[in-house]
This record gives sequence, C-alpha cells and structure tokens, in this order.
Amino acid sequence: MIWIVAAVAAIAGFLFGFDEGVIAGALAPLKQDFTISATAEGVMTAAVPLGALVGALAAGYLAGPMGRRGVLLAAAILFVLGALWAALAGGVFSLTMARLVLGLAIGSAAMTAPLYIAECAPAEKRGTLVAAYQLAITLGILGAYFIDDLVITLTGDDPSDSWRWMFAAGIVPAVALGVGMAMLTDTPRWLMQKGRRDEARRVAAKLAEVPEDDRAVAAELADIEARLAEERRGPGGPSLLSPAVRPALIVAMGLFLLQQLSGINAVIYFAPTVFGLTGFDTHAGAMLATVGIGVVNVAMTVVGMIIIDRIGRRSLLVIGFVGTAVSLAAIAVAASSGSGDLGWVALIGLVVYIAAFAISLGPLPWIMMAEVFPLAVRGPGMGLASVANWGFNALVVFSFPVLLQAVGLSVVFGLFAIVCALGVFFTLRYVPETRGASLEDIEAHLTAGRPFAAFGRA
Ligand code: BGC
Repeated sequence: MIWIVAAVAAIAGFLFGFDEGVIAGALAPLKQDFTISATAEGVMTAAVPLGALVGALAAGYLAGPMGRRGVLLAAAILFVLGALWAALAGGVFSLTMARLVLGLAIGSAAMTAPLYIAECAPAEKRGTLVAAYQLAITLGILGAYFIDDLVITLTGDDPSDSWRWMFAAGIVPAVALGVGMAMLTDTPRWLMQKGRRDEARRVAAKLAEVPEDDRAVAAELADIEARLAEERRGPGGPSLLSPAVRPALIVAMGLFLLQQLSGINAVIYFAPTVFGLTGFDTHAGAMLATVGIGVVNVAMTVVGMIIIDRIGRRSLLVIGFVGTAVSLAAIAVAASSGSGDLGWVALIGLVVYIAAFAISLGPLPWIMMAEVFPLAVRGPGMGLASVANWGFNALVVFSFPVLLQAVGLSVVFGLFAIVCALGVFFTLRYVPETRGASLEDIEAHLTAGRPFAAFGRA
C-alpha cells in the first residue's frame, strides 16, 4: 500500500522534471513560429522557478488548512490547466503566463509530495520512499528530452507548432496525479491534527497493512497525539522563527542552498554548452553526452534509494559533497591549464559529479526537509526551505551564462567546488542523523532544545 501511495505522489516529481526539462527542446521550434528576444526568452524560462517560489510559499501555508491531499489535488488541476494553456498559446506573452501557472503547480507539488510521502511512510523506509520522489524528478527530465525528440522526429520537415505537442504531453501525467490523489486519503498525522482520530486509525492501519486494532497502530497514534498535546501546551505552539525551531530551518534551508550552489542546474540545463566548451566539437556529440548525463542521473538515484536507509544521512552527504567537490575541481584545473585532455576530463568529471549528486545531494534535501520540522510548523517550514531551493536555482541558472562569459569555466566550476567542500563542514556541524528515527522522536529532541546535530548519534 505504501508503495502505491509513494508512486502516486511521485508523479508530482515526474511533472516537476518534465515541465522543467521540456523547454530545452521546445525553444528551437518556438523560435521558428515567433520572434523571441533574448529578454523574452529569459523571462519565459524564468517564469517556472518564479511561479514555483510563490507556489511553494502558498502551499506551505495551505497544507495545514487544505490538507496535503487537497494541495496535491489543486496542483494537479493547475498542471492540467498550465499544460493546456501552453499548448494552445497564441504568443510569447500567453506562453509565459502559462509557464507561470505551471511554476505555481510545480512549486506547490514539489513541497507537498515529499511531505505527503514522509508522513505516510514507516520510519525505516522513509528515506527510500521520499527518494522515489527524486527518482521521479530525474525520470521527468529524461522523459521531457525523449518527448521533445520524438515530436521533432514525427513532425519531420515542418516543425512549426511541434512545441504545442511537447507541452500538451504534460497533460497525461497531470491527469494521472489528479485521479490517483482523488482515490487516496490524507496522512494519519494531518488527520490527527484535525481531530479526525477514527479516520487516522483506519489510514495508519491500511498503510501498515495490519488490522485497525493492531498494537503498532495504537502506538503510532499515541505518539502523534503526545506530540500534538506538547505543541498545544506551548504559547500558541512553536513558531517557525522561535529559537527551538531554528536548527531545523538551518538544516532544511542550508541543504537546499548547498544543493543549488553545487551547480547542479548549470550542468542539467547547460550540459551541451559545457561539453561544447571542453572540446566536443559536434552538436550531436555534445547532445549524446548530455543524454548520458541524464541516464547516469536516473541510474545513480536508484542506487541512492537502495542505500539511503542503510548508510546514514550524514555519511551519505559527506560522500556526496566530497565526490562533487573533487570532480568539479578536476574539471576546473584541467580547464585552466588548457590541457589537451580537457574533453575527457570534463566527460569523466561530469559523470562522477552527477553520480555523487544523484546518490546524495539530489534526494537528501527533499528527505530531510520533510523530517526536521515539528508537525505544527511542518508546512510553513517546508515552504521556506523550498523558497531557498527555487531562489538559488534561479540565481544559478541566470548567472551561469553571464559568469561563464565574464570569468570562464575554470573559475565558475572552481566556485561550485568550494561550495561543495563547505558542504562537508556544514553537514558535520549542523545535520542530525535521522535515519530510522520516527518523526515524533526527531521533534521531541528538537523542541527539548538539545543540540540538533547530536540527534541519532548516541
Ligand atoms: C533539484 C533540482 C535538480 C534535480 C536534478 C533536484 O533535487 O532540486 O534543482 O534539477 O535534482 O536531478
């Protein structure tokens, strides 16, 4: 049952990756149909992260009153509307508006789906199940590349309007998300928070595949109840900015800052450019290398899913930060020395980089942002963490082409490498070990004011 729940929620991740990636192949045919200035192109591309920023904040506050399921249903409707609008757009302005709507959908779903999965999952499988969400993101990116390619092949000599089919393809997973969520219930934790105890018991039993009067279900509900009672006792419950919650905010926002400033989307969005700069002289060669990156990203995310609840979160983060720092530094050094082997160093370096990212920096921020906040402020806390994700995402994607021109590849990759190295220190100093712990135990430790990074390491 829990796998079905995770699979449905993960469709949101697929849509996230798909709607992000689809523009890559759509830009060329779009430029045949409309005249698009550089500014208009930037604004149209930026509409998604911008909309996502607003969507994430809004969803953070709505996940309480509307429920996790309610927000995901609303996001599914926005995904369908946005895709339809984009497919039927009469010009660049309306396409930009459509992408803003898609951004709203992505932002709200990207925050709520990991929350939904984490609150349904048993503690010992939580990492793997939320990582399935990251897997869906990577599959969505790859799926978008394939659909773009397929449409171009099918439309043959006359690619005008082909972009409409690329955007329209997003309607299929969006409908699947809506239908799937309509058939599921909300999480036991949210139901308890709303005082719907009987429903919570029924859902918890179904998720654990045990009878409703099972002892484990009673224990889980009692645990949630105790946390809620504790939260009510405080003056209006813990506030997001209270000193007790601050360590959680630092971990969740800090991990997304590091994830984005590691340069991941400079690689995902601009891989052909990077390969071109490092000596892959044909466009086809660069594209092939790019698809290779996408495939390694998917494959290594699967490896990450398998090991994430076995190796601790902290060790895995350190492995990821060291791997990304070393591979980026190698490319930076090769680029600055003008080495004749730069093409190969870049290819091997980027494969190692993506592999290290995919087992660690990719999934872990999503997993940990769903784990560290107390129930009372979980929605708003995750909303703020997502703002860090989208804000720094936009910053990197915008500044990368400019920086590349101003200071060159070696300096930019050198900067990304330094950020990854700092990630090691951040992890050791601030990140708790949440593997296998119940969300209620994590919360009890945090709100007791004990050093957060000491959690789970006794
Ligand atoms: C990041 C995205 C990135 C993707 C790549 C996600 O965890 O948040 O910004 O594009 O991983 O796989």
